[in-house]
Amino acid sequence: MILVTGGAGFIGANFILDWIGTNGEPVVNLDKLTYAGNLGNLASIDGDARHVFVRGDIGDRAQVGALLARHRPRAVLNFAAETHVDRSILGPAAFVETNVVATFALLDTVRGWWAELPASEKAQFRFIHVSTDEVYGSLGTADPAFSETTPYAPNSPYAASKAASDHLVRAYCHTYGLPTLTTNCSNNYGPRQFPEKLVPLMIVNALAGKPLPVYGDGANVRDWLYVGDHCAALRAVLAHGRAGETYNVGGGAEVANIEVVRMVCRMLAEARPGPDYMAQIAFVKDRPGHDRRYAIDAAKIRRELGWSPAESFESGMRRTLQWYLDNPGWLAGVTSGEYKKWISLNYAASAA
Ligand code: NAD
Ligand code: DAU
Repeated sequence: MILVTGGAGFIGANFILDWIGTNGEPVVNLDKLTYAGNLGNLASIDGDARHVFVRGDIGDRAQVGALLARHRPRAVLNFAAETHVDRSILGPAAFVETNVVATFALLDTVRGWWAELPASEKAQFRFIHVSTDEVYGSLGTADPAFSETTPYAPNSPYAASKAASDHLVRAYCHTYGLPTLTTNCSNNYGPRQFPEKLVPLMIVNALAGKPLPVYGDGANVRDWLYVGDHCAALRAVLAHGRAGETYNVGGGAEVANIEVVRMVCRMLAEARPGPDYMAQIAFVKDRPGHDRRYAIDAAKIRRELGWSPAESFESGMRRTLQWYLDNPGWLAGVTSGEYKKWISLNYAASAA
């Protein structure tokens, strides 16, 4: 079996659904259920004995140690993290606590357990650390895309905390021989993404007749990847990746934010005609330290593991929009209480 951390969040939950659907090997899912964790994401495998959910913290050494001893996973995939850049600007401490301190505790607990395994199990074991392209910093318009050898230059507290965890993962492989692999992926979008992130926030606000807040001039560029393609990349890295290596994962779909928002408006106008969605676009104050451009060179994972994305940005966005339209209950469930507080805090006085 495999141990997945953060499996009630956006990418972790999509990964577990994809894994159960394609591989079928049992999964233990350790998740703290922060505001971003939602067991409703896994409702379709409710009662399936191949998925065991455990509420807990990756930083809790006793709990992680007990899970390892009991289930003897052949791999750990670490998705658990604080992930929203704007939250890291308003409250960086939680990012250091989870992404650095708790991730270190997880890594160290896994190492202690792994060190006592029989030699053959030790060699087969894998620790996959799911990381981000934000560790590389920001690109100018003419710069080449991030490759695995691009120097780290994280700009936000979120990116810095992920960079710190990447370095620890690397050191644990180099020093102790723990078979770790790190993936650095670009912006994901797709079903079950918490509507604090750009794509689902625009869908939710457009449907509610609210402003569509675009930071700055809207010309910041991200390299968009459909979440199902990220899951496929992680399966390939687990199956065939070389221990000690890092793999960049990206969709080859560089799009400016304003174009992403306009696409949401165009697609919604087809699916739910009536309102003038474009008229809801509102340029607001920029994010402090806002990275201008991300782009991923995914040649290594393509060449070594034969992975490439199946969805184009257009096809992935259509699937995504349809999922949100088909799941109003999911949306209603995640957009009450704490969510409303966050929206008013982040967007207070943000008119440009
Ligand atoms: P998310 O915020 O949707 O989910 C994070 C999950 O981790 C939640 O279920 C939360 O409850 C859980 N969690 C948080 N702290 C925990 C702790 N201490 N112990 C156990 N569980 C904890 O995040 P996501 O977008 O699914 O991202 C998953 C991973 O992928 C993160 O490591 C992120 O850095 C990385 N990543 C995300 C993207 C993206 O575009 N979303 C792109 C590249 C990499
Ligand atoms: O690149 C990978 C990263 O992508 C992941 O590591 C992060 O976990 C994930 O949150 C994401 O970070 P971004 O900051 O790029 O994603 P976000 O959806 O917050 O913003 C995407 C772009 O849209 C960014 O340039 C900021 C802009 N934006 C965002 C929001 C929420 C707006 O213009 N308006 C908004 O309201």
